[in-house]
Amino acid sequence: MTDMTAPNAQVNGGDREWSLDELADSYAYPVDAEVWLRANMVSSLDGAGQHDGRSQPLSSETDMRIFGTLRGLADVVIVGAETVRLEGYRPARAREVFAERRAAAGQGPAPAIAIVTASLDLDLALPLFTEPLVPTLVLTGAGAPADRIAAARDAGVEVLLAGDGAAVDPARAVALLAERGLRRQLTEGGPRLLGQFTAAEALDELCLTLSPTMTAGDAQRIAHGPSLALPTRFGLASLLEQDGFLFSRYRRI
Ligand SMILES: NC(=O)c1ccc[n+]([C@@H]2O[C@H](COP(=O)([O-])OP(=O)(O)OC[C@H]3O[C@@H](n4cnc5c(N)ncnc54)[C@H](OP(=O)(O)O)[C@@H]3O)[C@@H](O)[C@H]2O)c1
Repeated sequence: MTDMTAPNAQVNGGDREWSLDELADSYAYPVDAEVWLRANMVSSLDGAGQHDGRSQPLSSETDMRIFGTLRGLADVVIVGAETVRLEGYRPARAREVFAERRAAAGQGPAPAIAIVTASLDLDLALPLFTEPLVPTLVLTGAGAPADRIAAARDAGVEVLLAGDGAAVDPARAVALLAERGLRRQLTEGGPRLLGQFTAAEALDELCLTLSPTMTAGDAQRIAHGPSLALPTRFGLASLLEQDGFLFSRYRRI
């Protein structure tokens, strides 16, 4: 893996595979931030955020190592309900390689998964709800279907209300999770959820994998929804390369 932002890219990494520890150091959350929301997304060269309803065809082994590292550093993974339904989300695992680092940072063994949903159309028999190491959270609005909120609570799921209607107010969701001590936040999309975090100016950082693939078609981009009045500016924080994949990290400026 090559660090394209290092003064001498060949010296810092070269073609050697970075250890998960090195990746974790490189992707560490800022220590002084009260709350930090980063997104991790993959895009094809022509801007597709999915292929055949999944992001996996755009991904690579190194992309999955970085995906796992970002989870290993996070307190909470925030994800839209459609991604949970389409990608068959499972609970986050406790991984030995991150155990010491997490304990030192006062974190539990794995990040909680927080699902954003207005419908609560969720299969409560999934391992995400029945076998999580850390209880899965559901973020919804006060106007969401009361019977489904009750069913989720009966199944032991913690339902947090972060909106007055059925929908979640993205900035409120971020604040609510931070109040619970979940301040190192990671969103894994999907595009409709990321579009809302972007519009609410709640997104601090984007970890974007540029996949050396073209898909054509009409797939969503990584952020979808109403256009912003003005584009939000981000600055490059780091750029790694492996096998033609670019792993960039941009921070809002
Ligand atoms: N390229 C990548 O890195 C990447 C990452 C993740 C996903 N994906 C792909 O993206 C696709 C799914 O993404 P998507 O954009 O269609 O959906 P999504 O953002 O994952 O989920 C949309 C759903 O989330 C809930 N939601 C979103 N905003 C909400 C709000 N403000 N309040 C309450 N609920 C809210 C709603 O759930 P309810 O319908 O339950 O109300 C909505 O239908 C999949 O194909 C997946 O493979 C790609």
